[in-house]
Amino acid sequence: MHWGMKNRLSRILNPKTGHCVMLAVDHGYFQGPTTGLRNLNTAVDPLLQYADALMIASGGVRGWIKPEMNKPIVLRMSGGTSILKELSNEIIVVDIEEAIRMNATAITCSVFVGGEYEKESIANLAKLVNWGEKYGMPVLAVTAVGRDMARDARFLGLASRICVENGAHIIKTYYCDGFEDVVEACGNVPVVIAGGKKQPEKDALQMAADALKAGAVGVDMGRNIFQSDCPVGMIKAVRKLVHEGASVEEAYQIYEKEKK
Ligand code: R5P
Repeated sequence: MHWGMKNRLSRILNPKTGHCVMLAVDHGYFQGPTTGLRNLNTAVDPLLQYADALMIASGGVRGWIKPEMNKPIVLRMSGGTSILKELSNEIIVVDIEEAIRMNATAITCSVFVGGEYEKESIANLAKLVNWGEKYGMPVLAVTAVGRDMARDARFLGLASRICVENGAHIIKTYYCDGFEDVVEACGNVPVVIAGGKKQPEKDALQMAADALKAGAVGVDMGRNIFQSDCPVGMIKAVRKLVHEGASVEEAYQIYEKEKK
């Protein structure tokens, strides 16, 4: 692996442990003004110090994030769809030159295995991987799940492995029962979990802890942090799990304390 690629990866994944807490705030690229993210700046600003990286779309960076922000950016490169239409019909909307100008540390797109535009979304990933290998830019692949699809280990393992085989450097997928099998399907490629829909804080922490136990290196979580009644408490709690190996109860206490 090229030095530049290793260097960028080490800015996202802790070089000693390989663990990370990514904060995902790219939801607006297909669902517009998302609850909790209506003002990206005020939503993100208090959370940034607790995040190892920020997953965000290019317009989100330009419109709301201060240039002096010093966290690694995982830049969403795919788009072209909205919640009003078929979500799998994505294209790559950002050039690699623009990602480099924006000082991105990694680039990302969604892959819709089993979706109507499966092939096109895998081609999007392949395009990012080819750019990534050329410029030393890691690629995070998101395994998107269609509304009618089962989020089980068989499907998520299939989707994740396809992303790995197409060259992704980090996999972002969803937690499910038998998550060890999903991690195993990814071989040496690190896996992080998305949070999915907002759950009670303790349940979300339990899910993150279970994912870590099954071999995930961390989270790339959005709604379960920024839609919490105490986003700072929640990201601090997640951090405690990921970076300190705390129990769910210990992490939950961090959230409760911050909430008070
Ligand atoms: C979805 O395509 C986006 O990449 C989200 O950033 C991602 O799913 C993570 O967010 P959440 O934890 O809210 O599921």
